[in-house]
Amino acid sequence: MSEFDDFIDGFYPYRKQSINYRRIPDEPRDRAEVLAEIKAMARAEDSMGDEGRVSGSLYSGDHEHYGYLGEVFAQFSHANVLQRDMYPSATKFEAEIVAMVLDLVNGDANACGVVTSGGSESLITALYTYREAARERGVTKPNVVWPITAHVALDKGAHWMGIEVRHAPLTEAYTADVGAMADLIDDQTIALVGSAGDYGHGLIDPIEEIAALAAERGIGMHVDGCLGGLLWPWAEALGYDIPLWDFRVPGVTSISADTHKYGYALKGTSALLYRDKDLRRHQYFTYPDWPGGLYLSPGLAGSRSGGLIASTWAAMVTTGRSGYLSAARGIFETATTIREGIEAIDGLQVIGDPKFLVAFMADRDDLDIYLVNDALKKAGWRMNALQLPAALHFCVTRPNTRPGVAEAFLEDLQSAVDYAAANAGTPAESGAMYGFGGTPQGNQTINMLMSGVLDAMHEVAPE
Ligand SMILES: Cc1ncc(COP(=O)(O)O)c(C=O)c1O
Repeated sequence: MSEFDDFIDGFYPYRKQSINYRRIPDEPRDRAEVLAEIKAMARAEDSMGDEGRVSGSLYSGDHEHYGYLGEVFAQFSHANVLQRDMYPSATKFEAEIVAMVLDLVNGDANACGVVTSGGSESLITALYTYREAARERGVTKPNVVWPITAHVALDKGAHWMGIEVRHAPLTEAYTADVGAMADLIDDQTIALVGSAGDYGHGLIDPIEEIAALAAERGIGMHVDGCLGGLLWPWAEALGYDIPLWDFRVPGVTSISADTHKYGYALKGTSALLYRDKDLRRHQYFTYPDWPGGLYLSPGLAGSRSGGLIASTWAAMVTTGRSGYLSAARGIFETATTIREGIEAIDGLQVIGDPKFLVAFMADRDDLDIYLVNDALKKAGWRMNALQLPAALHFCVTRPNTRPGVAEAFLEDLQSAVDYAAANAGTPAESGAMYGFGGTPQGNQTINMLMSGVLDAMHEVAPE
């Protein structure tokens, strides 16, 4: 078998085990048989995450919880939340999700929000809101300023909307350099963004300073709390030293917090919150002249499933404050064990001052962190590989808090570092593309390859 066949089998593992459909089957397939096929896929694909060997991605890991949410989802899976006359429960669920998240991030009586399909939609919608608000004050060539670590969905949104992005560097603490951000602002700047915490390193940017800068310049500030927003309130309650990052900070005008991450809801929801209703108005679309009728829509989506909103609401009220607190306790304790263990390994350096997501890199040139990742992969761990600088991160979620997981990880990490040291100079299998970018030609080639991967993701498996 050629390497190419191996690659294709890895990318399309079901191509020889099940029918590869290119048209709808003439006759309906047996439901039980189809369900059994899907269950087998789900069980196989979930197994690594269920063992707690995956960084991030799966936040609850409790299959009883998922099963229950699935049951709730089924009640309204078919319902379209646009049709509020038929499904007024959607108003209850959506408004209460927003209220419960607002309560956690200290929104006052004027604060408000919407539920979106996920972090990316929340971030892109916030950008749209600020662009529309700025248009009213005559901004025609909008730009935004954020640190290089802000989530890339923001760059995607800016790209889609023709907004110029001005990336600010980081300080030695790996958080936003606010002085550099100040230098990038001009009269066409529509908003500033900071993360709490950022995807790569899990760190909180100096939100108070960025917000003060935004207020001084008369522009808005969005805090991306998609990842950490539903964890920090519990960290504070548990006595961890967490800088202010939410609506208690004057100048913070919007916040995103993903219910489908540490809210333990099913995938497909996030909360986008605003300090006041006037700002939210800018994301609304209303069109009274359409032959199809008066059209009003709060955001990007048209039809949306009532199932997701109902199940997100159910996830929150059945987890309860005590449930969130005890989950967070386990997450912070496990992350502390992992952080301290990494700090004790010769050759590794923890990035910044992390609380739940621990990013680490090699502290010397002859240790390739991607070789470390290769060895971790072989040992059955799935880390997230970062670049600029080369690093890995372990985003701790509930499945990782299972007894023994952190200790097993640290043992395998030490062996992985030994492997990398013994194999110095060998090209790593993971992150092998790294180092190729950074030049216009290199980036162009990488873009082409990455677009090819996206094409492949939309192809039926080859015979
Ligand atoms: C800080 C941060 N913002 C935004 C996102 C994007 O969220 P989503 O994948 O739900 O679109 C992520 C995803 O991990 C994130 O970590």
